[in-house]
Amino acid sequence: MAEGRSVFVTGASSGIGAATAVECGRLGWRVALGARRMERLAAVAKQVEEAGGRAFAHALDVADPGSVDAFCAAASAELGPCDVLVNNAGQNLAALVHEARVEELRADVEVNLLGALYVTRALLPGMLERRAGDVVFVGSDSAARPRPYQGAYAAAKAGLEAFARVLEMETEGTGVRSILIRVGPTGSEFGTRMPQDRIHEILASWKYWGVYRNLHWMPAESVARAIVRTVRIPVDESYPTVVEVQPGGRSRRHRDEPA
Ligand SMILES: NC(=O)c1ccc[n+]([C@@H]2O[C@H](COP(=O)([O-])OP(=O)(O)OC[C@H]3O[C@@H](n4cnc5c(N)ncnc54)[C@H](OP(=O)(O)O)[C@@H]3O)[C@@H](O)[C@H]2O)c1
Repeated sequence: MAEGRSVFVTGASSGIGAATAVECGRLGWRVALGARRMERLAAVAKQVEEAGGRAFAHALDVADPGSVDAFCAAASAELGPCDVLVNNAGQNLAALVHEARVEELRADVEVNLLGALYVTRALLPGMLERRAGDVVFVGSDSAARPRPYQGAYAAAKAGLEAFARVLEMETEGTGVRSILIRVGPTGSEFGTRMPQDRIHEILASWKYWGVYRNLHWMPAESVARAIVRTVRIPVDESYPTVVEVQPGGRSRRHRDEPA
C-alpha cells in the first residue's frame, strides 16, 4: 500500500501543492492536481510527468461544493480511488479585521477551512470502504501562534486543526489516517499576495507579539518532502498525527551576530 499510490492535491498550481505533486511524481505515483488557474496546473502536471509520475489536472474551486464533487469524480475515474488526499489549498487575506471586506473574511474561511471539509467529505467514504487512506491537512503555525493581520486565516487554520483531530477520532481503527502538517514560513506565492506596501508594519506587529523572531523561511520543496515522507510511514508502523515543519534546523546564525 505504501507505493504506487494515487494522490489528490488541492491547490496544486503553485507553492507547496505544486512541489508536493512533483515529489509524488518522482516516486512514480499518480497525481490529481486541482486548482483554479488551469494554465499553471497544466505546467505542474507536465513537471509531474517529467519526474516519472502520472498526472491529471482538473479545475477545482474548493469553496464550491459542486466543483469539489466534479473534481473528485473526474480524478477518481482517471486515476482510480484516492489513496492520499492533500488538503493544501489556502489563501491569506492579511488585513486588520475592521479593514477587511465581508467577502474577504468569508473567502479566507471558505478556502482554508470549509474547502478541506468539502473535499474530505467527498473522498472519505471510499477510503473507509477500502479501509485505507491518508487525509493530510496543510495547516499553519498561525493556528498555534495566531498573529495580527491574520484574523480570519488564523481562525480558519485553528478550525482546520480541530477538524483534523476530530477526523482522527472518527476514523480510529479504520485504516484511515488524519495527518496535520503544521507549516512555518515558506517561500511561495503566498507572501507575494500580501499587501507589499504594508509588509513592514505587518512583520513589525508579529515581532511585537513575539511570533516572528527572524526572517528564516524554507523552500516549498522542503515542506513537500516532509509531507511525502510522512505519508510513506507504513500504517502498521506508526500514526503521525501532527507534524510541525519549520525552516532549517542547522543554522544558528544569531550566535555569530551582534546583539
Ligand atoms: N507560505 C507560507 O509561509 C505558509 C505557511 C503556513 C501554511 N501555509 C499553507 O500552505 C498552503 C499552500 O500555500 P503556499 O504557501 O504554497 O501558497 P501559494 O503558492 O499561494 O499556493 C496556494 C494554492 O492554493 C490554491 N487555491 C487558492 N484558493 C483556491 C480555491 N478556492 N480552490 C482551489 N485552490 C485554491 C492556489 O491555486 P489557484 O489560485 O490556482 O486556485 C494555489 O495553488 C496553504 O494552505 C497555506 O495556508 C503556507
